[in-house]
Amino acid sequence: MRYDYFRPHNPTNMEQVLQYQQTHRQRYLDELLDLLRIPSVSADARYRDDVLRCAQAVSERLAQAGADRVQVIQTAGYPVVYGEKIIDPALPVVLVYGHYDVQPPDPIELWHSPPFEPVVKDGYIYARGASDDKGQMYMHIKAFESMWKTGSLPCNIKFMIEGEEEVGSPNLEEFARKHANMLKADTILISDTAMIANDIPSITTGLRGLAYVEVEVTGPNRDLHSGVYGGAVANPINILCDMISSLHDENRRITIPGFYDAVEELSAAEREAMARVPFSIDDYKAHLGIDEVLGEAGYSTLERVSIRPTLDVNGIWGGYTGPGAKTVLPSKAFAKISMRLVPHQKSEDIMRLFTEHFQRIAPPYVKVKVTPHHGGEPAVTPTDSPAYRAASKAMETTFGKTPIPLRTGGSIPIVTMFEKVLGLKSVLFGFGLDTDAIHSPNEKFGIFNYYKGIETIPYFYHYFTELSRKN
Ligand code: BES
Ligand code: MN
Ligand code: MN
Repeated sequence: MRYDYFRPHNPTNMEQVLQYQQTHRQRYLDELLDLLRIPSVSADARYRDDVLRCAQAVSERLAQAGADRVQVIQTAGYPVVYGEKIIDPALPVVLVYGHYDVQPPDPIELWHSPPFEPVVKDGYIYARGASDDKGQMYMHIKAFESMWKTGSLPCNIKFMIEGEEEVGSPNLEEFARKHANMLKADTILISDTAMIANDIPSITTGLRGLAYVEVEVTGPNRDLHSGVYGGAVANPINILCDMISSLHDENRRITIPGFYDAVEELSAAEREAMARVPFSIDDYKAHLGIDEVLGEAGYSTLERVSIRPTLDVNGIWGGYTGPGAKTVLPSKAFAKISMRLVPHQKSEDIMRLFTEHFQRIAPPYVKVKVTPHHGGEPAVTPTDSPAYRAASKAMETTFGKTPIPLRTGGSIPIVTMFEKVLGLKSVLFGFGLDTDAIHSPNEKFGIFNYYKGIETIPYFYHYFTELSRKN
């Protein structure tokens, strides 16, 4: 492949970049809609061909935008799409990470329009993946295009777009180790998080980790008649419910011994700063259709979803769930349980603590099996690095306000993995909103957010190159 090392570029050429974006505005949107039509659901093998087709499509878009060495690189799972533009080896390198896979669309009957037939309505793009993460990932490809095609790219850029984020990135660590040289960079830039509001920009500075388990509770050796046996034999669903409800105490604290041992308590100053973050509990409740919030005593809602660890049942099943009534005392009950972790909890330790505790509390009339699923480590990102400052200045330029640094509740386990394997910190430069309904029916992404991201990203490159030079 050809390297355009010495193509003249003018980093202060923002006027031209914005002009280019304006001219190609409609095409930028249409291309994203096309990408959203590909049902790249990584969790469900029935979509396998679509996931692969999506990787191919992303690689074609990267090449069209001007990237070199574009490749769809195989892994033991779904491939990683790579591309780069090295204009001058002496200049900094920004590694952009994103994911082209999406969550399953179900429950499909709750969508107002089909999840993979994007609809533009009332200022939003409705489709699975609109915000998480195709829309946010594609902003980077279009921002790159607008810099490259106007001769305004101020530094080097590499893209790594994976297809297994929504299933825990099981093959990305090996990929990163194997391609560490190719991935060499000065910072990682990721748009896969949210801001506080469209008029209150923020930059995510921490993510929670994740420990995910599946439990199986077995009672009698077969489903029984609930009249003939009911009342005399333990019902595994009843028992599972008891066990699950014992995992929280009356203060909504998790009762697993040792669970909080490693938890980092924030300083009073950090908690005060969080308390000043603009947040309306009334809007929050109204948006969710709930009358009251519930969480760990002694912490605010924002704290509960960011700096505190949690335990939630994600799914529970067993017995008869078909139409009508079938009188049955089931043999088995199942649940999927996630625990969100904060610094410095380790997913492996928490998984072990959970397993031991759940086995210990199992009453003698059932058998319990715990199967660990993927884990992920929590992350904190610096706010004093050139990359963070560049992101902050970029948002300040396009929003007219300094973004607020804020930790969030979701997980992107590869952030800590990249730190370990590549020695690189990330900047979580998200342009979504918590109300985008990611992973839910009717996921959406604001047209405003899409274009704002495309507009803001080139400023990041500009400031990052400038700030790196001074260092
Ligand atoms: N983009 C999300 C993570 C996210 C969402 C972070 C909103 C902050 C705010 C990502 O695609 C995701 O869904 N991650 C999973 C974890 C993964 C291991 C399946 C999650 O958080 O449940
Ligand atoms: Mn995501
Ligand atoms: Mn997701």
